[in-house]
Amino acid sequence: MPNNMMRMGLRVTSQTGLPYIFATELPVGPRAMLQTNVSALVIRSALAFLMSAIVCYVLAQFLTGPILNLRAAALRITAGDLGVRADARLTQRKDELGDLVLDFNRMADTNQRVISRQRQLLYDVSHELRSPLTRMNVALDLLRNRVGEDSALDRIELDTERLNEMIGRLLTVTKLENASTLLNPVPLALSDLVRSIASDADFEAQRNGGTVRVVNTCDISMNGDYSLLRSAIENVVRNAVRHTEPNTSVDIQLDGPTKTDRANAIITVRDHGEGVPENELANIFEPFYRVIDADRKDENGVGLGLSITDRVIRLHGGTIEASNAIGCGLLVTIRLPLSLQSA
Ligand SMILES: Nc1ncnc2c1ncn2[C@@H]1O[C@H](COP(=O)(O)OP(=O)(O)OP(=O)(O)O)[C@@H](O)[C@H]1O
Ligand SMILES: [Mg+2]
Repeated sequence: MPNNMMRMGLRVTSQTGLPYIFATELPVGPRAMLQTNVSALVIRSALAFLMSAIVCYVLAQFLTGPILNLRAAALRITAGDLGVRADARLTQRKDELGDLVLDFNRMADTNQRVISRQRQLLYDVSHELRSPLTRMNVALDLLRNRVGEDSALDRIELDTERLNEMIGRLLTVTKLENASTLLNPVPLALSDLVRSIASDADFEAQRNGGTVRVVNTCDISMNGDYSLLRSAIENVVRNAVRHTEPNTSVDIQLDGPTKTDRANAIITVRDHGEGVPENELANIFEPFYRVIDADRKDENGVGLGLSITDRVIRLHGGTIEASNAIGCGLLVTIRLPLSLQSA
């Protein structure tokens, strides 16, 4: 028998007179008693803890599941995907969270309806403006034939051209905003595209003594819409040429997938100009947004170039962002996924 145990016996006599002895072994002393109780207590507490953890987990899932779902939908809508809704099954819940999901989806429906009506209106107005503008151009030509060279006519011609360009860009923006996917992505050599844009822009930059250089490139092929991608990248490069200081360079870099980003081709465009105030960096991708600052050069832009670029890049599943480069100038980074399937 172990030292810390003691044996106890109890003598009893049955009704028939037979003697019995009940024997048992018990732990000796208060410490042993305590040890037995503590281990039972630990097991019971662990079980209780486990049970309450399971109950808490289930409860948390029940309460936070819809909130997380709502948050994910809100983030995607904020990113421009207006057709996204919270999981409709959650509206079956007969509690406040179910009501909240229902109200959120109704609000998203209304937003989408209002925004698409506005886009359609913008498209229709732009479209309708084209016909009188074409007639004005014809009338202008007739007038020029009659009165010959005239500076007032030159001014009218310049402004009608500008209006025409603005309307063309507006039509492009609204068309792109209404498109949810690319119609016909085809295989294209991104490196050739970048080199060709750079060579055209370099010609333009020479007027100011500047250059457009491709500082790094590698052979990358991807699927995409050639003309949309061309105009998107061109918008960024032409902005850089317009804003870089005279006699400075605009540097374009094309990188293939890296260790930290295996999925994308990365195009960066950097100029040596005044850059954009930090608090306005995100706004320059909004339609008609132009940075107004007394120190900036007089700009003739409409404010639609980057919003077109942003939409084109998003249609390709990519991203675009702008930051101020170290030293001076703007650095625009475009990421284009290489996994897009061709049509
Ligand atoms: N490289 C840059 N350096 C400094 N500011 C820039 C640069 N690129 C864009 N911006 C600012 O962002 C604004 C929006 O650019 P965006 O290309 O959309 O319009 P825009 O060039 O003014 O007109 P558009 O391209 O329609 O002819 C510009 O008006 C300018 O203020
Ligand atoms: Mg522009």
